[in-house]
Amino acid sequence: MSIPQMKATGIFSYEQGKYCVKDISLAEEGKLLMDWAESRMPVMMKLREEYSKTKPFAGYKIAGCLHVTKETGILIRTLQAAGAEVYWSGCNPLSTNDAVAAALAAEGVGMFAWYGNHDDFYWCIERTIDPKPHLTLDDGCDLINTVHEKYKDYAKNEVIGGTEETTTGVHRLRSRQEAGELYYPVFAVNDAETKWDFDNVYGTGQSTLDGIIRATSVLLAGKNFVVAGHGHCGSGVALRAKGMGSNVIITEVKPTAAIKGVLNGHEVMTMDEAAKVGDIFCTATGVKDIIRKQHFETMRDGAIICNTGHYDAEINIPELESVSVSKRTIRPNCEEYTLKNGNRIYLLAQGRLINLAAAEGHPSEVMDMSFANQFLAHLNLVMKHRNGEKYENAVIEIPLEQDQFVAKTKLESMKMNLDVLSAEQLSYINSYNEGT
Ligand code: ADE
Repeated sequence: MSIPQMKATGIFSYEQGKYCVKDISLAEEGKLLMDWAESRMPVMMKLREEYSKTKPFAGYKIAGCLHVTKETGILIRTLQAAGAEVYWSGCNPLSTNDAVAAALAAEGVGMFAWYGNHDDFYWCIERTIDPKPHLTLDDGCDLINTVHEKYKDYAKNEVIGGTEETTTGVHRLRSRQEAGELYYPVFAVNDAETKWDFDNVYGTGQSTLDGIIRATSVLLAGKNFVVAGHGHCGSGVALRAKGMGSNVIITEVKPTAAIKGVLNGHEVMTMDEAAKVGDIFCTATGVKDIIRKQHFETMRDGAIICNTGHYDAEINIPELESVSVSKRTIRPNCEEYTLKNGNRIYLLAQGRLINLAAAEGHPSEVMDMSFANQFLAHLNLVMKHRNGEKYENAVIEIPLEQDQFVAKTKLESMKMNLDVLSAEQLSYINSYNEGT
């Protein structure tokens, strides 16, 4: 894509090889947002304090493809302070905060991202590969996939390793590994307990409701709130919706996840059943076509539909278009479709992840732990490389000690103390012949 075309789409802050952002003059606003996030991310600040002294990343280039938010800014600033040269693109067309992108570009990050980047998404990713990064940091595998598909030799021979932030991305990586098509080691950051148990549940729970409220200002109390998928993310959304007074309905394919929903106080139904009674629908499954034609046709007038999964495939929008006679934008991130049967359905954020497209993503406090895991996983890769060693080309679990370190540091920052088991208690739990 050429620069004049970018200008035509309203993108004009560009310096070749350095950045392409919406408007570099937003930098001061973005800096304030990041300064605020720093005050909520004590684990990251501790890591920054420690590793800015030793600069373990000196001489290493990192390319990241992850939502450009104020929290991501803190991860990037910390990697830079620890010596890394950083290049970045957004991992979703609707999740970049343009002010943060501008501030990071002004701080020397190779930043290629803007809100609304549908057409140049892969162009941006490729600009972060141009400098030949040693490491990749993904959220959803688009960077890893691009490196593997378009730069195969480089992926095989030059990349030291990478990390993956999200459930969907880790699934894709495991498929790649099973097919023998994974060319460098990748840490599954998503699978760290201090990531999924907090970020996926509490982060998604709060930020999803935040996105729905910002896009609609609708009252949640008394509404039938349908959550498709009761995994970590869906269960967080369901619990928070319940807390706001909604009657929560879960749709699931997995019996155990459905039972958890029931015991959390929700109803379980099929989507065919839920479509007829739901007021608000939110998908959190990672699977495509969860809400489709047969559901739109039976929904109530005024139903609100949105998605909080990584990709925009969970709501079948072409089928929504096919049953509609007209469409208009009601307010940002809220489009009204009028169906042939006269009913209106409101689609939020074009079916893209509502928490980042319409709100600010997960709060800084949870991203603090997720991004500490990202930073430490990259540190593991670099330290191994510095020692002349390499991990095997596989999806690698986050070490248990790292998980515990992140949890302990977070707890300390909250000024909370833990009990310690006595020698006698330890011997009691570890013995096999203690009984009644
Ligand atoms: N994913 C969800 N919330 C996020 C945030 N605040 N920053 C980066 N990635 C996210």
